[in-house]
Amino acid sequence: MPTVLITGASRGIGAEFARQYAVDGWRVIAACRDPGDYDGEGEVHALDVTDGDSVAALGQAVAGEKIDLLINNAGIYGPRNLSFDELDYDAWSQVLRTNLMGPMRVAASLAGPVMASQQKKMVFISSKVGSIADNSSGGSYIYRSSKTALNMAVKSLSLDLSGKGLITLLLHPGWVQTDMGGASALIDAVTSVAGMRAVIDRADAADSGRFFNYDGNELPW
Ligand SMILES: NC(=O)c1ccc[n+]([C@@H]2O[C@H](COP(=O)([O-])OP(=O)(O)OC[C@H]3O[C@@H](n4cnc5c(N)ncnc54)[C@H](OP(=O)(O)O)[C@@H]3O)[C@@H](O)[C@H]2O)c1
Repeated sequence: MPTVLITGASRGIGAEFARQYAVDGWRVIAACRDPGDYDGEGEVHALDVTDGDSVAALGQAVAGEKIDLLINNAGIYGPRNLSFDELDYDAWSQVLRTNLMGPMRVAASLAGPVMASQQKKMVFISSKVGSIADNSSGGSYIYRSSKTALNMAVKSLSLDLSGKGLITLLLHPGWVQTDMGGASALIDAVTSVAGMRAVIDRADAADSGRFFNYDGNELPW
């Protein structure tokens, strides 16, 4: 039975990943800021990805385990609709700490259990709005830049660890009906996660370090 660890499993896309993998018979390790918010299957651990002690404590709790799949899903949008001359730099810092440094911290802390597993996969939930090539509308400086930077950091990670068999993927979940995506988003979390699971399932070494949509299409950087 493979094992998956999911960050931000309290709600939205993370909760749906936990539900679907549990239904499929995987062992699920959920990580949430407040473990009391998790109502799915499997075990739950406290994790605030912006807090080095919290990330280290999770790493210690699962040291010696084999984690086939790590899904770095936790993320925030930050303040919306700020023009370039009214940016909130404290908020920008917090978004970078959550969306960029958080997943990298978690990846470093859990690399041992992932590398000890059979599948050795690390997935990072990015966003198409982090694609420079796809940016035709401007704005969203804070969120966009956090995901663009995540893409670059994960690309380096994939190159640095490919010789050890690690498979990294950057995935865009689609525009999804969650607290972040809002009610008018195009797809529900069930559809998004089912699509991403298919992409993850068939990913091999040749896909490592690449950026895919939830439907399997590759996205431009
Ligand atoms: N929804 C979309 O349309 C969409 C599109 C593109 C990309 N994404 C990405 O998909 C991922 C999931 O988004 P979502 O739509 O499911 O958002 P969501 O419904 O707002 O859920 C966000 C999750 O991240 C957790 N989280 C936030 N800050 C955290 C921290 N410091 N430490 C640990 N957990 C933290 C939240 O925990 P709490 O419950 O404790 O707040 C929650 O579980 C994010 O990375 C997001 O950027 C979403």
